[in-house]
Amino acid sequence: MTIEPSGQLHPPESDTFPWPRAAACPLHPPPRYASVRESEPIKRVKTWDGSIVWVVTKMKDFRDVLTSPHFSASPHTPGYPSVSPARAAQSQSYQTFITMDSPEHGQRRRTLTKEFMMKRIDELRPFVQQTLDALLDRMIEKGAPADFIHDVALPLPSVVISIMLGVPYEDHARLQSLSSNRMNLDISPALLRQSAQEMEQYIDRLLREKEQSPGDGNDLLSRLAIEWINPGKLSHADAVQMGALLYLAGHETTANQIGLGLLSLLEDRAQVDALIADPSLVRGAVEEMLRFHSITHMNSARVATADVMIGGQLIRKGEGVFAPVQAANHDPDAFPEPDRFDIHRETKGASHVAFSFGVHQCLGQPLARLELQVMFETLFKRLPTLRLAVPPDALEFKRNGNVFGLVSMPVAW
Ligand code: HEM
Repeated sequence: MTIEPSGQLHPPESDTFPWPRAAACPLHPPPRYASVRESEPIKRVKTWDGSIVWVVTKMKDFRDVLTSPHFSASPHTPGYPSVSPARAAQSQSYQTFITMDSPEHGQRRRTLTKEFMMKRIDELRPFVQQTLDALLDRMIEKGAPADFIHDVALPLPSVVISIMLGVPYEDHARLQSLSSNRMNLDISPALLRQSAQEMEQYIDRLLREKEQSPGDGNDLLSRLAIEWINPGKLSHADAVQMGALLYLAGHETTANQIGLGLLSLLEDRAQVDALIADPSLVRGAVEEMLRFHSITHMNSARVATADVMIGGQLIRKGEGVFAPVQAANHDPDAFPEPDRFDIHRETKGASHVAFSFGVHQCLGQPLARLELQVMFETLFKRLPTLRLAVPPDALEFKRNGNVFGLVSMPVAW
């Protein structure tokens, strides 16, 4: 036993975080979240570097942490936790608002809010539809079996974010591989840093060209040049970091969500039939996918900047906290029978937090929702007999990614 300065007794930590998913139910959060939520909803755990940090497992406490002014999202604040050496290097590699605190966070983020407003994103709908139709045409023409991740789920968000930012799509293979390195929890920190650097050098060159000849501002990076950088309201270096963050966040996430969403639907044919019979169910189905899979399963690292009470537990200044979305989204107090995937779920006003909560909640959520909605409005209309081409237990998951997903997904129709 150790006695904390507060006088509280703490047992020695043997609970090592992150917890593993159960081999038999890869789509469910690690079962440890459910047992801990019952007995000790804010739990002390040990991480790879021996740090003792808190894990928050209830929705209410999750929201309290992410809206409290007493937590920092910056890896430069002493005590900031990480789940692996690669993740520590990735957090340090961000020099932009995702790891900044107020007021700098808000100042930088506001540069981009107009770009992600619902109305502006909805204007992309015809383009998203056209891109998806072309990808499906190509997959159908090649014939079954096809790898749905490689042929459709990954290229859709990748084409869309490239065109939106003004990044030539012919460069996507290299950029995608750099993104994937940066999202890998097990990669060497040196390779991760090198990947971040290479990505920044690429965006740096591209942005300089756009600053010199921004044209009509037809893409996001050109508009940043015209409206912010050239008039001296944003530095070139800041804009490079934002461009790299958007490219990274823009496709690894949505691509994995599309694959897992399709898998959950295919595991329950009745839900596919319900979607075909009533396409108005698509919006609810997309929200249920976001909640159920909570793909950014290693997100929301924070560190307390003052002593603060969360859920009756004192968290001291300098102590790290993880507030994982998958824990909050599977809290039975917020969502009854949380481990059931149900596109008809009545949420009774409770909203999921797959895009997180508070000031750092996902900037790209209107874009992610648009892509997911177009995908699931179209897919079963075009391919009503779509099915897995291998037994479900032959599927391989990306367990070592900061974003959870499928490595590949053989399908037939
Ligand atoms: C299904 C798809 C997506 C999911 C589940 C998702 C989830 C999240 C989550 C949980 C966070 C908070 C991270 C944290 O605090 O640790 C976040 C932040 C962010 N996301 Fe997404 N995201 C998705 C798609 C996108 C897309 C398409 C874009 C943009 C192109 C994007 C851009 C961002 C940005 C810029 C932030 C940082 C916001 C800030 O710190 O103020 N995301 N996202």
